[in-house]
Amino acid sequence: MIGGATARVPAKINLHLGVGPLRDDGFHELATLFCALGMYDDVTVRPADALSVTVTGDNRRAVPADASNLAAKAVIALGERIGREPNVTIAIDKHIPVAGGMAGGSADAAGALVAAARLWRVDLPRTELLDIAATLGSDVPFSLTGGTALGTGRGEQLLPVLHRGEFHWVLAVSGIGLSTPDVYRELDRLRADGDRPTDALTARPDDLMVAIASGDVHTVAPLLHNDLQPAALSLQPLLRRTLRAGREAGALAGIVSGSGPTCAFLCADLDAAVRVAAELSGSGVAKAVRTASGPVAGARLVPVDGH
Ligand code: C5P
Repeated sequence: MIGGATARVPAKINLHLGVGPLRDDGFHELATLFCALGMYDDVTVRPADALSVTVTGDNRRAVPADASNLAAKAVIALGERIGREPNVTIAIDKHIPVAGGMAGGSADAAGALVAAARLWRVDLPRTELLDIAATLGSDVPFSLTGGTALGTGRGEQLLPVLHRGEFHWVLAVSGIGLSTPDVYRELDRLRADGDRPTDALTARPDDLMVAIASGDVHTVAPLLHNDLQPAALSLQPLLRRTLRAGREAGALAGIVSGSGPTCAFLCADLDAAVRVAAELSGSGVAKAVRTASGPVAGARLVPVDGH
């Protein structure tokens, strides 16, 4: 057995998030366009006497360091599939915002799967790894594949989408996390109050897909859409100020990322992103402001601890 394996896994944003009605299994039917951004967690798995989790990095607080951690669940699920005790330490170096709507927990689960498979030298077919990923969370399969992809079902059924060129984003990270189930529940409540009908919301975002394939950021910007945004804004009204500040700072468009509260701003180019980030940092509307570009690849092995 090798001494350890590290996987590097990107954050995601949703360029489009169409949310259909609540299904009987408690999930909502989705049509979403995922895009992986160059902001990463590193997940290292090493042999040990028992399962344990440690978390380091700028976003380590509020991440459970026990078996309830999604990365631990991933190693347990993979161990069960191949008949192996999950006796490993999982070290997560965290840079993706926690509870921020950027699939940070899903990234850690995907990273743990890839790293543990390498450590245990199991060569599962890709489809089997994606199956295990889907049992862990709706966004985990995308954290494995990365790139730009259309997600349907509850988000776990993926089709790659052509994305020409690189887009440059500014992320405004909130000091307070939002729970994904709470945001979906709030959307159901708003809709029950007559906010919007729930039919035909899961149509494929064809116009946006054509724009992304063309690589023209100015055509893409007005087509960004998130059905969860009104619910996230209802739970955290201050996010309206963040969205306004990003647009005033020169972003082409701003949306809440997934279930929020991170706000994602699309910028014309890298220089514009750096300018918008500097201005947003000074405006005090976010706990932290970062730039990231995408699309990038999904979970991949790197030398242990990135060295
Ligand atoms: O799959 P994941 O663990 O990320 O989902 C967390 C929660 O988000 C679910 O329990 C559900 O409340 C909500 N969700 C949903 N519909 C989806 C995905 C997530 O309602 N398609």
